[in-house]
Formats: sequence, C-alpha cells, structure tokens
Amino acid sequence: MTPYAQRRARLLAQMHAQGGGVAIIPTAPEVMRNADADYPYRHDSYFYYLTGFTEPEATLVMVAGDKDQAILFCREKNEEREIWDGYRYGPGAAREALGVDAAFSIASIDTELPKLMANRPALFYALGSSSGLDDQVKNWLNAVRAQARAGVSAPSTAIDVRVILNEMRLVKDDHEIALMRRAAEITADAHARAMRHSRAGLREYHLEAELLHEFRRNGSQFPAYGSIVAAGANACVLHYRAGNAELRDGELVLIDAGCELDSYASDITRTFPVNGKFTGPQKTLYDIVLASQYAAIAATRPGARFTEGHEAALKVLTQGMLDTGLLDKNKVGSVDDAIANGAYRQFYMHRTGHWLGMDVHDVGDYRDPAPAGTEKPWRTLVPGMVLTIEPGIYVRPAESVPEQFWHIGIRIEDDALVTPDGCDILTHKAPKTVADIEAVMRG
Ligand code: GLY
Ligand code: MN
Ligand code: MN
Repeated sequence: MTPYAQRRARLLAQMHAQGGGVAIIPTAPEVMRNADADYPYRHDSYFYYLTGFTEPEATLVMVAGDKDQAILFCREKNEEREIWDGYRYGPGAAREALGVDAAFSIASIDTELPKLMANRPALFYALGSSSGLDDQVKNWLNAVRAQARAGVSAPSTAIDVRVILNEMRLVKDDHEIALMRRAAEITADAHARAMRHSRAGLREYHLEAELLHEFRRNGSQFPAYGSIVAAGANACVLHYRAGNAELRDGELVLIDAGCELDSYASDITRTFPVNGKFTGPQKTLYDIVLASQYAAIAATRPGARFTEGHEAALKVLTQGMLDTGLLDKNKVGSVDDAIANGAYRQFYMHRTGHWLGMDVHDVGDYRDPAPAGTEKPWRTLVPGMVLTIEPGIYVRPAESVPEQFWHIGIRIEDDALVTPDGCDILTHKAPKTVADIEAVMRG
C-alpha cells in the first residue's frame, strides 16, 4: 500500500467512526499572476496528502459506506493542450497510478457528485474555506434534495474534514519524515553555501541567488516561503524579504529560508557576520540566542507541552537581556518579573516555534482537547511531530539601550522531529556555533 492509500484508509476509518458519509477534497485552483502568466502552480496540501497527485483541476471523493470508495476527478487527456502544457494523466492512467477505485473526468463532477451524496448521512469537507467550494456543495446538495419525492435523502450533517486531516498531518509518517529530513539537509547545505559566498560589497539578492541555486540543483521545486536575507539593520524587520541592500563589513546578515521538496517544507534561520568574523557585541548576543535555543531543544521531548520550549528559551533570553543591559534590572526587576510584565518583548516579539510539514506554518491544533468549559492545555508533544525552534533578539535603537548593540538582529532556527526520547534536529548540518560559522566562512 502506498503512503497515500494508507492515509485514505485512516481517513475512512475516522469517517466511519463519525457515522460515515462522503468526503470532498479538491486541489488548489490555478491563479493568474498577470496577463497570460500563471503563478507557479502548487497543489493543495490536504489533497496531495491523500493522493500524491500534482495536477490542477482535480478532486478526491471518499465514500465511507457499506462499500468504501476512493474516487478521483481529474482532467481528461487532451492532445491539443498536452502539446502546449505537457502530459496529463487522464482518468484511466490516474486511476491506475493512484490506486483509487474509480476516476472520472472533472467535467462530470456536477452530475456524479449528487449521485455519490444521495442517501449519505454526512458530508465531510473544508467548510467555508472557499466560496467556490461552498457554492458547489450547495448546488450538489440541492440536486440531491430535488429527488426527495423519489425517496432520496441528502446529507443532513456537515463535518469539517480538516479537523480529521489536521490531526493526521500533525504526526508525520515514515514517508513524510524521510522527505523532511532530505528537505532539511538541502536547506542546511544552502545556508552553508550562502555563508561561504558572503563578502562585503555583495547585495542581499546575491545570497538569495546562492540559496535558490542550492535548492534547485538538489531537486527542490520551490522555496517553501519567501526567503528573508536581511543585512545589518534589516534583520530587525521580522518579515523583511531579500532585497538589494549592500552587505557591509562589520555587520551581520540574517537568512531565514527553506526549500520545499516534494511538498514538504524546511525552515532554517542562520545569522552570520558578512566578513566571517563576529565582533564582540555580536558574539555576546549571538551566544545568548544560541544558549536559549539549546534550552528550548532540551525541552522538546515527548510528554512536554508545546510551550515548554518557548518558556525555556524565554528564561535564557531574558537573563541575557538583563546581563547585557538591554533591559535595566532597576526598571524591569528580575528575570521572572521581566517575563511576567512582558518587558522582554522589546527585543523578542515572536514565539519560539510552530508546526512544520507540508505547510511551513503547518496545520495541527496547538492545544489538547479539554472538557467543555475548561481551558484547553497546550499540546503535549508526541513522537512524529515536527516543529521549529527559533528564538531571536532584535535590537532597535533606543536611548535606554547600549549603543554597541543597536541594529543587531539575530535569529537561530532549526527543525526538530520529536523522537521517543527527545528530539532529532533535522537541520543539524547548518553551521551554528560561532566557531563553526567562522570556520566555514574561513573556507
Ligand atoms: N520562515 C517562517 C517562519 O520562520 O516562521
Ligand atoms: Mn523561518
Ligand atoms: Mn519558522
């Protein structure tokens, strides 16, 4: 059984547990960028998770009933279009390749779906995710309801299929872990390459080009998100995108970039000196961020809550802010005070991680279930979850802040797979300590 067929079987089991019905999972639409030019096509992650199919204009329908069925709707073969755009499976070859029970032309979905929905108790789909899908579902439901006098009943319940799929996607299977390991490795090599190419006088886009080169030559289809290459003060702009600022001697450059490989994201941040040698103040702050990341990694293990890594990092970062005078003890009090009153947020304004998978900010509830009326506790980590660990410090100039630290922005981000006895840093190949970075940059 392929991993996709295994996942379909798991979805069917969950649908049966909720009384059965029909699930409808369309892929993503193609989007026009400007006249005659599309954005690069990226399939929908849920659809891909269950099919491995990358063509646009496709929908998976799963029937959990007396007889379970997986049915694909996809584009017909079309000689004329294939001359222009390339190969299309067509329903016949797609059925074979995907191992689904049946495949139809997408052009027939409006006639087939009402038949599949007839006399089923529930509909499982991404409620309210797009007005296009909501409208289609409404039309199919009305087509079933039109047969009421013939004794046909329409589904009376709608269930958000994403709730089931998000839980499944949160814990990665072996196929996913192998891909994420490889994506992480390619990205780690890309960061090392950017370090080796860095020198004063280049521009941010030169380093972006090195990243893209390494991603693509290793088979990655796209970056998993817009690459951040932020020289000097730009590193303090959290969502800065690679631009044309000059890399200047004595400054740091922060790179947050990751490739997507066969639908799986990686997400690494490294911060290094343009000229290969940290200054004293840069090293001081860098080592605080690194120590905070190690503390968060140590807190990333089965049984721990999702937030324990963040809390561990926060303690180390806040202590560092007090030790270096970024925060004034006389004003903000102790480490615990500065955490409680939020004073640290002047220099650290984001959380320490997020789920990672097919989407860079991957799906999955950050809370565990709890009885009605009680607050849901943060998620308990279990083996197979993948999350980022990405503390940072960003120093904008202010009168109260020692000038030697002004404009320094540092983030260190790795991707961690929760294992039975801790976590495995998938991105370990990207140079990280001051000594390692300086050695790589010396050549
Ligand atoms: N690169 C996106 C993030 O770190 O969350
Ligand atoms: Mn990132
Ligand atoms: Mn991230």
